[in-house]
Amino acid sequence: MRYQVCSSFACLLVFIAGCTSQQQEVNDPPPGASLSSGPQTSAVQSNSCASGACHGDTSHAADVTSAVGSEFTFYVSNDPHAQSFRPDAVLWKQILSNLGAAGDSTVEQQCVACHLSSFALHDEQDPAGSTVNGIGCEHCHGAAEAWIDKHYTSKWRDNLPQNYSASNMTQISDHRVQARLCVSCHVGTPDNEVNHDMIAAGHPALMFEVAGYLELLPRHWNNQKQRKNSPEFELSIWANGQIATTSAAVELLKARTQNAKPWPEFAEYDCVSCHHSLSLRNLGSNSNRSGIPPWGSWHSLLTTAGLDRAMFIPSSAAASVGGGLSNSMRELRSGMQDAAFMDVKRVPHALLDEVLSGLSEWKTVLDASVSTSGQENQPIDFSRLMNDLLEDEVVGVTGANSASATQYYLAMHAIHQSLYDAGKITSNDGATANALLQLRTELEEGYDAVRFKETLLPLRSNLEQLLEH
Ligand code: HEC
Ligand code: HEC
Ligand code: HEC
Ligand code: HEC
Repeated sequence: MRYQVCSSFACLLVFIAGCTSQQQEVNDPPPGASLSSGPQTSAVQSNSCASGACHGDTSHAADVTSAVGSEFTFYVSNDPHAQSFRPDAVLWKQILSNLGAAGDSTVEQQCVACHLSSFALHDEQDPAGSTVNGIGCEHCHGAAEAWIDKHYTSKWRDNLPQNYSASNMTQISDHRVQARLCVSCHVGTPDNEVNHDMIAAGHPALMFEVAGYLELLPRHWNNQKQRKNSPEFELSIWANGQIATTSAAVELLKARTQNAKPWPEFAEYDCVSCHHSLSLRNLGSNSNRSGIPPWGSWHSLLTTAGLDRAMFIPSSAAASVGGGLSNSMRELRSGMQDAAFMDVKRVPHALLDEVLSGLSEWKTVLDASVSTSGQENQPIDFSRLMNDLLEDEVVGVTGANSASATQYYLAMHAIHQSLYDAGKITSNDGATANALLQLRTELEEGYDAVRFKETLLPLRSNLEQLLEH
């Protein structure tokens, strides 16, 4: 049995341009993606953003660094989301036919939930000329009725946080908001999921990491200024991404144990422990009991190794959250491993609820820091986070299998990028960058626990030295 996990750094999208004219019932923006609780407003549809004077300039649409003014043109011709609804594509049809669901509109409706938003642009007069047949601008930026005619004025921009929440414009530059938005489709929600049946039918497994995926996305914005102003920029994307993906994954697990869903749900467990080439050795450390797949290796790095303690600059609120979550998460992982192949009743439901409430406290602390100050002050202690990430305990946990090793590589990548943005690394092809590249090459060639550790240790001491200065 062979399959390919589409790891975020290894697989660049082959963009297939092509539109269909099908009209489908479509979904609303993801709940909870926005920090604001603004009024319900309507969409104006993507075409309204396309005027040449606004986001539809065509003169430099091909240049990533200056997509400013050309966002629409650039998005339509480069971004996979613009054409993510492709019911005529071979793979799409294959998935449905393997599921035995060709022509079954209830199943197709599930696909639509993540692949087509109500903010997509369908030109009813000229279906063949439709430009966005997937995810429209307003799905990510918020329904525009209340801000379309104001958001470019200087008066509006002087009072941003208040204006965002008053008008329902998504504060997309906020890393918390951004991450929650992405995971609504890239991890899934209780209503929209990609389970093992769909994966076995041909759907790519959803193995998402925000910082890596943001790098893969053809960027229709310029973030150079933000990077320069905040050296922790990359690490902040990474950390907020970890929080959002973990929360979404645990919520999904909870939903999967209810509502008469298929169980055991193999998509919850480490793929490689059931699917791997017979020639692969050293698949994991001895913490894996043989024959029993580990749970949650992809989604729980941050909360597994005690890293949650590093996530908050000491405060009374933080003290009550930090630490406890890691313990519950560790127990949940072990309980889920015991429950593999078992009846759904054997899932440790009480622990699951404990983890969910820890995560929701965490979210409250994160959100509180924005609403009181109106600023994007995050309570994360980045320098402690970087140091803690390099601790022995963390290195031990991450060597356990290929999923957690890949996550760890992505964390090292974020630290490296942050040190580079901070000017602590001046050349992007130095010893640290080379060690990082070697780690990635090894992961791409196939995970080997022993080799992984050998490559990791010199990289770690490089990073430790850089952090000391
Ligand atoms: C939970 C949201 C979600 C649901 C539900 C969903 N998808 Fe997807 N789909 C995605 C995401 C996200 C990707 C991109 C995955 C990646 O590359 O990491 C994707 C990728 C795909 C691809 C591969 C695209 C390419 O060219 O690489 C196809 C085909 C596809 N989905 C079809 C379907 C079909 C058919 C259904 C319904 C049976 C469906 N999807 C349901 C989120 C979803
Ligand atoms: C899949 C989600 C998504 C979609 C769809 C999307 N954007 Fe964006 N957009 C983003 C993200 C993420 C950023 C970066 C925010 C940041 O980090 O500052 C961004 C940034 C921007 C910015 C720069 C904002 C600023 O303050 O610097 C503009 C302008 C913009 N988008 C316009 C558009 C237009 C026009 C469309 C439709 C053609 C569109 N976007 C579709 C996610 C999206
Ligand atoms: C409304 C659902 C939705 C949201 C929100 C969303 N995506 Fe996607 N994304 C998809 C789907 C569906 C695909 C697959 C598109 C295809 O190829 O058909 C995809 C594809 C991608 C790809 C290409 C993957 C590959 O295999 O190369 C990247 C990168 C990506 N998304 C990043 C992001 C990021 C970063 C965010 C948040 C800023 C985000 N997405 C938000 C649904 C979504
Ligand atoms: C507990 C063991 C187990 C785990 C964990 C597991 N699978 Fe499977 N997988 C199976 C079995 C058994 C089948 C064959 C029956 C079926 O199609 O459902 C299968 C079938 C498949 C197929 C279809 C293969 C074919 O030749 O048709 C793919 C692709 C696949 N799995 C991918 C994955 C991915 C990706 C993951 C991780 C997200 C995963 N599996 C996790 C046991 C597992």
